[in-house]
Amino acid sequence: MIEFTNELSTDEDGIENLLDLVFSASRMNLSSYSLRKKVPKVKTLCYVAKNTDGSIIGVIRCWPIFIGKKKKISLLIGPIAIHPTFQGEGLGAYLINHLKKVSKKYGWKRAILIGDIDYYKSFGFFQQNENKIDFPPPTDSKRILLLELENNSFKDVEGKVVKFY
Ligand SMILES: CC(C)(COP(=O)(O)OP(=O)(O)OC[C@H]1O[C@@H](n2cnc3c(N)ncnc32)[C@H](O)[C@@H]1OP(=O)(O)O)[C@@H](O)C(=O)NCCC(=O)NCCS
Repeated sequence: MIEFTNELSTDEDGIENLLDLVFSASRMNLSSYSLRKKVPKVKTLCYVAKNTDGSIIGVIRCWPIFIGKKKKISLLIGPIAIHPTFQGEGLGAYLINHLKKVSKKYGWKRAILIGDIDYYKSFGFFQQNENKIDFPPPTDSKRILLLELENNSFKDVEGKVVKFY
């Protein structure tokens, strides 16, 4: 049976192996990684899916980020990865829906994710109309997806996304 739990420090190696498999090691060059470097994860919002033998077959992680001069805090959701053998079985959807529920409970108002709108729109993610939010390069603006965890929480939020400190 597949088990979903909060990420533990002992899961680190299994998660890195899964991310290397799904995204390749060049993932470290992605713009999102620059926002995560030396910033602590939001531990309460990092989950893994484990197979019966304890191996990690799914992960979702979150970091905090600031947006714009007003330093509006937001979640940066990702990476999300499901082991290829287990893709298409609803594990990704389960992790995203669980994360949405718990992040609201903890009072998070908004989230950004870099990904395919075709997959993420069914969870409420949307593309920004006026490109008011600048993500560090190189990022395809169509892949900058916003999620309101509280209604209208992206209203008047604009500017550069920077590291949380
Ligand atoms: C994207 C990912 C997290 C989805 O998790 P999953 O458990 O495989 O997805 P689910 O079972 O919840 O949903 C499967 C459905 O999403 C669709 N889907 C998956 N990736 C998609 C994409 N990039 N665009 C559009 N649809 C997509 C599948 O075709 C499937 O559709 P169906 O139900 O009509 O057959 C997973 O496939 C994965 O790890 N992919 C590679 C890494 C990645 O792209 N991560 C996200 C960027 S951070």
